[in-house]
Amino acid sequence: MVRGISCVFLLALNILSVGGSKHSAWNGHTTPGSTTPSDFTPYYVAPGTKSYDSSSPFVHYSGNWKESFSPAYVHNTVRSTSHPKAAVTFTFTGTGVEWFGNMDDSHGIADVYIDGEKVQTVDNYSEAPMKQQRLFWKYDLPFGRHHLKVVNTGKRRGSQKKGILDVDAFVVTYGTKAIRGHSASSIHSLPTSDSRKAADLAEATTADAWSLEQKGSTGVHAMQLSIISPTHAIIVDKVEHNPLTVSGHPAWAALYNLNTHAIKPLNVQSNSFCAGGTFLSNGTLINVGGNPVVEDHTSAADFGDADGLQAIRIFEPCESSTGDACEIYEDHARIRMASPRWYNTVIRLQDGSAMIIGGAKKGGWINNATVNNPTVEYWPPKSIHGSNGMPVHMQFLVDTLNSNLFPIAFLLPDGKVFMAANQDAMIYDWQNNQERRLPQIPNGVRVTYPMAGTGLLLPLSPDNGYTPEVLLCGGSTVDDRKPGYEISSQDPASAQCVRMVLTDAGISAGWQVEQMPQARTMPDAVLLPTGDVLIVNGAGTGISGYGNVVHQVGASNADNPAFTPVLYRPGASNGQRFSSAGLPTSDIPRLYHSVATLTPNGDIMIAGSNPNLDRSEVEYGTEYRVEWLKPPYMLVGRPEWVSAAPRLLGYGQSLHMEVKLQQNAAHSPDIRVALMDLGYITHAVHANSRLVYLAASLSVDDRKTLTITAPPNANVYPPGPGWLYLVVDGIPTTGLRVLVGDGKGPAVDEKAMESMLSKTIVDQYDKGKEEKGDGAE
Ligand SMILES: *[C@@H]1O[C@H](CO)[C@@H](O)[C@H](O)[C@H]1NC(C)=O
Ligand SMILES: *[C@@H]1O[C@H](CO)[C@@H](O)[C@H](O)[C@H]1NC(C)=O
Ligand SMILES: *[C@@H]1O[C@H](CO)[C@@H](O)[C@H](O)[C@H]1NC(C)=O
Repeated sequence: MVRGISCVFLLALNILSVGGSKHSAWNGHTTPGSTTPSDFTPYYVAPGTKSYDSSSPFVHYSGNWKESFSPAYVHNTVRSTSHPKAAVTFTFTGTGVEWFGNMDDSHGIADVYIDGEKVQTVDNYSEAPMKQQRLFWKYDLPFGRHHLKVVNTGKRRGSQKKGILDVDAFVVTYGTKAIRGHSASSIHSLPTSDSRKAADLAEATTADAWSLEQKGSTGVHAMQLSIISPTHAIIVDKVEHNPLTVSGHPAWAALYNLNTHAIKPLNVQSNSFCAGGTFLSNGTLINVGGNPVVEDHTSAADFGDADGLQAIRIFEPCESSTGDACEIYEDHARIRMASPRWYNTVIRLQDGSAMIIGGAKKGGWINNATVNNPTVEYWPPKSIHGSNGMPVHMQFLVDTLNSNLFPIAFLLPDGKVFMAANQDAMIYDWQNNQERRLPQIPNGVRVTYPMAGTGLLLPLSPDNGYTPEVLLCGGSTVDDRKPGYEISSQDPASAQCVRMVLTDAGISAGWQVEQMPQARTMPDAVLLPTGDVLIVNGAGTGISGYGNVVHQVGASNADNPAFTPVLYRPGASNGQRFSSAGLPTSDIPRLYHSVATLTPNGDIMIAGSNPNLDRSEVEYGTEYRVEWLKPPYMLVGRPEWVSAAPRLLGYGQSLHMEVKLQQNAAHSPDIRVALMDLGYITHAVHANSRLVYLAASLSVDDRKTLTITAPPNANVYPPGPGWLYLVVDGIPTTGLRVLVGDGKGPAVDEKAMESMLSKTIVDQYDKGKEEKGDGAE
């Protein structure tokens, strides 16, 4: 308790001392005490960074410079020169620096030096005049004193005239951890530069220990994560001030190369805060829903994002090992939802289409009857239950208010859909539009946003006829009808996990209750090819979201990060299932907007956390560092695929694959083949996560030919991408990607599509539109 309060106090001091910090890029957010959203410009002083104006005594000019004044400049002043060789120098202490200034058609070419070395030639010629632009930035300097020098070349693109160089402001990033050092908790006080120490924390100590490596940076904040190919993951964020840029503004999506750790920005048109996603049967990924434009008042200097509330963003399969030519495509005139959705869940059905579930009609915080969208719709749209492509009412989403955003949902092997929201669960027969309510989740635990727990469909196996069993873990018992000022970041999370077998007998037996060793809200549960479940990330207290409760840490509604993952073995006997033995402890808090996924390689990629708005350097600031949690099987000899995978894996098909066993495999080894959907992860929801064991045998003679039988039908594994892992004596191969089914896209019902498009308006909830329309501005 005391700690939470003192953090807030220290943070307040930090923010005061840096001054000038603007908050933006999040619908509904206003600076405390104000009801008007602040204007957005690329100039941004992240909480924890410091701005130096062009007139600061720390900024030195040589040669001929002149000072101009306008309210359009940072602190009303800008310095400019058209003299070749005129230079500005600035010495700072920290890990990063940004230079802000104007762009127009008189701006020329400048050389930038850091610590005496030329690092970039900057050309900020632009036909359109733009102010407070980020002209140069560097974030990855070793912590310490650095010297920045910018020299005017006097040259101008496409002109004999002299080019202008100007300086509006410099912004210095001190370094994440140095600031976290204020925290009372010793784990936070590791110095930034000493990454070795962090590695030591995670060092393997016993033979079956796991290891944790911190490597790579996501460039955009990792709010949503999905593996899209053997080499890449896609990361989707909301519109915010990320270090990675595209088309002259911060990017809000990127491809992450799993092998080289390189990142490539994606140019997304609409605001994807907070979207869901799924692959369709032909391997196309759709990203669905989001937020309106970041600010009501936009200008040429803006992010340029469009309203994302009805968006369906298309990411066609991209096999490029460099991520080149991979793009997100949007055309809201043709491709959109019928209704606006913020915090919706999206899953793939047995016909290869997407079911889009719930969400709110506008951004905000906790759901309520005014903003609730208690419907499902489909992509492509369906003629179903008289909907003719329009949304279908779902009473469950009315009955589960308020904390029911990002419902937990899984396709079951009978073709129906399991759903959990708030304290309730049901099975939805979508083909007949019937809800079968299940017993309530015991002990008052809520499992969906903002009292977020996590859920998984446990592995399906032919051994028991694919009997489905679901697992829900974590969440909170905080009353979802309380106002924010009666909820605290220090309210304890729930340690409860519940399981239920979804057969008549299982449902009568009800939820089986277990306790995690540690309470968590916002946990991530990751299925491993071994059938075990890795639970990671989240907080011991508080709830999801920004700036809504008392005792916030910065703007974080949660505190007391859970730093040590726990392994859950569903097959072990009750009481023996949880263990953190050998699991490394991280020093990176992963709270709201953190993610984790299994990779094709078999390790777990852990990223994200931004419980404070935008790129912040305060405690629980925006986290770009990636961690790789490696199970013990990564450190030993592993079995290998010798044959390449076929592109398609048809239902019931037999597949012969040549394999190589690890050297110390048992004489008659234990063989399992896991077909896995690695899911689409956001807000603790692991949509589509799935593990189906396949009937498999290994030829006894040379033990090299593995015969696999594909899943019997699309209910067991809905058509779409999957990864094959052969597990020999508990040690998995790397995953081989296949496309399950016939590879075709879901059927498009032209009539339903036409009807939906004609009955709905493009971006109907775009507030900016109305304002532009009435001409009153
Ligand atoms: C200014 O120029 C540099 C290098 O040419 C470029 O990286 C940067 O994006 C430009 N800034 C803007 C706001 O376009
Ligand atoms: C419902 O939620 C919206 C969005 O958060 C909020 O603006 C509104 O005030 C809420 N209404 C009620 C009745 O609580
Ligand atoms: C997959 O199907 C969807 C829906 O019909 C379509 O939009 C997309 O272009 C298809 N992708 C490929 C690769 O054919």
